[in-house]
Amino acid sequence: MTKHSDTVLNYHQRTKHTLQRYAKGPESIDWEDQPDHFRHFSGCEIVSLPLPGTELEVLFTELDTPEVISVKPLTLANIGLLLELAFGLSAWKQYGPSRWSLRCNPSSGNLHPTEVYLISADLENLKAGVYHYVSHDHALEQRCRFSDNLPDGSLYLGFSSIHWREAWKYGERAFRYCQHDIGHALGALRYAAATLGWRIELMAEAADADIAHLLGINRLDEFKALEHESPDLLCRIKIGVDSHQVNESSSDAVDNLLAAVEAGAWAGKADSLKAYHIYKWPVIDEVAIAADKPRTQEDNWQAIATKSLPTACTQTATSLIRQRRSAQQFDGKMAPMAKADFYRILAAVLPSSSTFQTWRWPAKVHLFIFVHRVEGLESGIYALLRNNAALPQLKLDTLTEFTWQAIADELPLYHLHSGDCRQFAKGLSCHQPIASDSAFSLGMVAEFSDTLRDAPWQYRRLFWETGLIGQVLYLEAEAAGYRGTGIGCFFDDSVHELLGFTGEQFQCLYHFTIGKPLDDQRIQTLPAYEHLRNN
Ligand SMILES: Cc1cc2nc3c(=O)[nH]c(=O)nc-3n(C[C@H](O)[C@H](O)[C@H](O)COP(=O)(O)O)c2cc1C
Repeated sequence: MTKHSDTVLNYHQRTKHTLQRYAKGPESIDWEDQPDHFRHFSGCEIVSLPLPGTELEVLFTELDTPEVISVKPLTLANIGLLLELAFGLSAWKQYGPSRWSLRCNPSSGNLHPTEVYLISADLENLKAGVYHYVSHDHALEQRCRFSDNLPDGSLYLGFSSIHWREAWKYGERAFRYCQHDIGHALGALRYAAATLGWRIELMAEAADADIAHLLGINRLDEFKALEHESPDLLCRIKIGVDSHQVNESSSDAVDNLLAAVEAGAWAGKADSLKAYHIYKWPVIDEVAIAADKPRTQEDNWQAIATKSLPTACTQTATSLIRQRRSAQQFDGKMAPMAKADFYRILAAVLPSSSTFQTWRWPAKVHLFIFVHRVEGLESGIYALLRNNAALPQLKLDTLTEFTWQAIADELPLYHLHSGDCRQFAKGLSCHQPIASDSAFSLGMVAEFSDTLRDAPWQYRRLFWETGLIGQVLYLEAEAAGYRGTGIGCFFDDSVHELLGFTGEQFQCLYHFTIGKPLDDQRIQTLPAYEHLRNN
């Protein structure tokens, strides 16, 4: 165990919510004084993207077989559509004098710590360089202009997190939520890319320091103290299989990009997000340093793709992606969900599904599901194993009375225990009724301490995996006529106790719930980008 692994494990331990106390957070919050949800850089050239809202005919179900979707050309309009469908605004909400925006990607507390950058070769109306995406304006701010074109003509997307934007509300636990949000953002990008017939490649070999350099977020004097960004992920967009870009290795591509930003001309300075920083959470900076990723060699693992399970969804991908929301309340008297819908939703998070073809490693996260209302299934606890190799250890480490009875031909789904678990599902999710009034809720349990032992940065990757699963659940819930909500607030060790886990071999990292939503009629929904149309 390295010193950094210890720091990460200690962080994880101290940021657990327990029934006796919540993880350390601010004692009071001034809602009027929230950090700006939209980062702007002053002093940059702005590239406005074509107006958002384009509908494509591609059906959501066609994303199960992305290879049959016609490949859209790499134009500014299509790049704009990619960014909009992944990270753009999806609506405004209004309640009395309060007005807030929602985006295609969800975020804990709607705080959106994830920032998105584009690195592009010369394209029509887009000069080669590094750009920051501003979802509110649906525009790109040019941070760096390359002196030469990129040798491979590729398009890259980079993600970073402003930890402090999340910590403003959630204190020390915020680092976890930022990682969940990165996983969701990756999922959102994958669905958006697939809609255009594009694919994404995770450039997982890159060091965090490389990503910081490429995105210009290591230029600390251009950011206000405490409002800096931490590097997370770099992806390459693949457009058409015969493109020459496909052949360049990820490490070579990163070296070429580093040379381009080194020789490039940088512009702009990040505007302040907030006037005052009352609470400070140094433990977040400590864990961020301990979980910093070096350059690594990575496998190119991929599960064998299997056919998705049927769905009645006939919606287009563009409309389904834009309608995704978190349910705030569920109808606890809902008719049970059809078993076929339940199975389809679960099959979509398996490594053999189309979304997880993007994920380059064997699954390390499994679902422990509290079934409340599913036709033909007894209420109780079930497990979906996303990697069957974990079965012997999970059997050993969970309660001896669990039956571990395989119940479906289509899925590695196991029955563990029968009984009404609504009360404890709600109790364990910080007493939130969305965990009990749903068709089912679940905990995502990760293979934890062994994963982190010599690679503490894998802590973040585990959370990304849970966020990616969460994004699939959000969209599949919509496709089945239901709605989902990510649940970051839960009592960690009470969940472990209920399932029988002791020690740190397995840890629950994220909860999720899916049911029939009840809308709050007092809240008005307004179009996403009316403010651009009126300009
Ligand atoms: C990582 C994560 C954790 C979340 N935790 C909770 C939660 O504990 N309770 C809840 O009601 N909503 C939770 N949400 C839902 C967010 O509040 C929601 O995504 C945000 O308000 C934006 O709304 P939207 O998802 O409708 O776009 C969570 C979302 C994410 C991504």
